Amino acid sequence: MPEEEREQIERELSEYVREQFPSLQNKINGCSIAYLDGPGGYQVPSRVIKGMEEYLININANAEGSFYTSRKTDEMLENAREVFSDFFNCSREEVAFGANMTTLSFILAQALMREMKLGDKVIITEIDHEGNRAPWLELRERGIIVDEVPIDVNTCTLKMDDFERKLLRNTKVVAVNYASNAVGTISDVNRIVRMAHEVGAYTIVDAVHYAAHRPIDVQEIGTDFLVCSAYKFFGPHVGVIYAKKDVLSKLRTMQVRPARHYPPYRIETGTLNHEGIAGAAEAVKFVADIGARFGHTKKLQQSLAGLQGHRRNIVAGLLTFESYEQQLTDYLLNELSTIQGVRIYGPPEGHLRTSTTSFTYAGYAARDVAQYLDSKGILVWDGDFFATTLVERLGLLDQGGLVRIGIAPYNTREELTRLIDSLNDTAALRTFVSTKR
Ligand SMILES: Cc1ncc(COP(=O)(O)O)c(C=O)c1O
Repeated sequence: MPEEEREQIERELSEYVREQFPSLQNKINGCSIAYLDGPGGYQVPSRVIKGMEEYLININANAEGSFYTSRKTDEMLENAREVFSDFFNCSREEVAFGANMTTLSFILAQALMREMKLGDKVIITEIDHEGNRAPWLELRERGIIVDEVPIDVNTCTLKMDDFERKLLRNTKVVAVNYASNAVGTISDVNRIVRMAHEVGAYTIVDAVHYAAHRPIDVQEIGTDFLVCSAYKFFGPHVGVIYAKKDVLSKLRTMQVRPARHYPPYRIETGTLNHEGIAGAAEAVKFVADIGARFGHTKKLQQSLAGLQGHRRNIVAGLLTFESYEQQLTDYLLNELSTIQGVRIYGPPEGHLRTSTTSFTYAGYAARDVAQYLDSKGILVWDGDFFATTLVERLGLLDQGGLVRIGIAPYNTREELTRLIDSLNDTAALRTFVSTKR
């Protein structure tokens, strides 16, 4: 596609996307806000807010009653499952909701523990967020062996040969990250799942970070479970899990007597966050709307071949975002690499990655850099982002960790230029840090 045409499409996309987000009008001290904190949670479009408001004003009831608003609640919940079945490419009976990814993972770990005996093994990884480590590390108390796949600190990727060595017949669970929320590395989960299944292990994929950046296809991955959180992709604070129907139907989950003991309800506990789920479904519809409007480029046609309806639009929406984020990421990586003292941590060129970019700045603590940027209306995270083990292996845990730049579809090249200019303004940064102390 000619460069000019591509730029025109990107401009139209960016304008349309930004119009959907009321929070982008907010200012701090008269300064417009650059929300580069996306990997910690995205801004939400109007339709998500309206969806939640609509539920609370016109429906709002507990589920499974015989009266109007309760029936409407059941309808909304089933519709939301339908929407997420297209998001994951699975059946409606394979979509369950919970508080957040971490809570769902603790619930899952407790259930899978009942399938294990002393000396059985769980494999986790060093690249994972603690939400996909702690629930499994807890099982050590019950005599379960927990082995960790290390990362190669030079490439921020998993050491696959080590995984292969550790994957023995006594491995009952493999819990792995899809994309790193700290450095953006995308891991080869298809291969990991295939290998884990060869020894009969259950697989759990943490797609919390990945879900915002690329389409998920649980059929292609073949995993037993995949967990994500709607607040990481335009939605409210709700966890969502894909659970393979025949696996979940046999799993001994913890449930109260009157609950429905069959999929997908078998892994849900208590009253769900109804308004949050209504909003989460709208978040997916927002992505689908982008796909319907902007997903007709020649470039996408091959990836969309054979897809139809809502699933097609969701995939098209995410691929549209991916390509938009890609050019911003290239720009950011290029510019950052020219700043003296900046060291970027992440996968090597050519390796699959998300737009999330982390770095250190010699002479400045990550917290100082984040606070300095905040003073300019540029919001970024610093620290370990709960990817504590990874940051520890990188040798940065005692030094305040990393500065993380998240690029979401509502971000712009101008915002990144603002960021780069601020980082280049070392006089201002030095003054900020010294007056702070
Ligand atoms: C990759 C990854 N996994 C898990 C989590 C935990 O998600 P939740 O807050 O929904 O428990 C996060 C949150 O930052 C994350 O980025």
